[in-house]
Amino acid sequence: MVKIGRNDPCWCGSGKKYKKCHEQFDEKISYIKSQGHIVPTRDIIKTPEQIQGIKESCKINIAVLDYVAQNIREGMTTQEIDDLVASKTAELGGIPAPLNYQGYPKTVCTSINDVVCHGIPSDKVILKDGDIVNVDCSTIYNDYFSDSSRMFCIGNVSEEKRRLVDIVKECVEIGLEKVVPWGFLGDMGQAVNEHAMKNGYSVVREIGGHGVGLEFHEDPWVSYVSKQGEEMLMVPGMIFTIEPMVNMGTEKVYCDKKDGWTIYTADKKPSAQWEIMVLVTEDGHEVLAY
Ligand code: MF3
Ligand code: CO
Repeated sequence: MVKIGRNDPCWCGSGKKYKKCHEQFDEKISYIKSQGHIVPTRDIIKTPEQIQGIKESCKINIAVLDYVAQNIREGMTTQEIDDLVASKTAELGGIPAPLNYQGYPKTVCTSINDVVCHGIPSDKVILKDGDIVNVDCSTIYNDYFSDSSRMFCIGNVSEEKRRLVDIVKECVEIGLEKVVPWGFLGDMGQAVNEHAMKNGYSVVREIGGHGVGLEFHEDPWVSYVSKQGEEMLMVPGMIFTIEPMVNMGTEKVYCDKKDGWTIYTADKKPSAQWEIMVLVTEDGHEVLAY
């Protein structure tokens, strides 16, 4: 890390002198690092201006998912969901982040029943009575990224599947309560995991959440099978997703070899996921996208 003079302008862009701004903050982080913890680098911590820009992006992201919520229905193809997301994002001046991301062919991910995540919309896949579907929407606006996903229950969903959907939402909310400055990502991860396990479910290990805002996927990688007091220190200005994938049966998953994207549960039992974006603040957290 570059050494800044105490009277130099602070690295955060506030215009204040370093000694009156982030000097003590940096010292506290250095101390925690010396105790053996993983700590965020400066590029992970967003400036007030960046946070403002990311919030604007989130507004579009939320509006697009609200639009999906109003229009999603039985008999619709997942391609039609893709079309809804594409048209609403464009109308609001945004760009869909998934399209062409590492070769991803569509605008949104639509993951039904035993599809854990990264389901590719298709005009051959029709939403049926009793399906549970995750719609994962990611948006770019003025170069700022936002990312959130919701579950939708189509028609008459079994009690068993509805419970999975509800419990995963609770997992996210219980994890969120652990998001406070000077806590650790593992505090959140353990809370998510315990709630899932307590309800007889398993949490996917290989795929996690991520920092987000200036890029689609930034450090840190966020696990939901982590332990209290472990993983990265949370400090004000960090933005990341809480997006556990929770399975009714085995935690084991595999990737479709043909399309290279779709992740399925190994036992064909259902999986559910909700994704929110959270900012760590001076006194707790703020949800930016839900
Ligand atoms: N939206 C996913 C996430 O929550 C990432 C999807 S990558 C894509 O991180 F290419 F499939 F869009
Ligand atoms: Co995400």
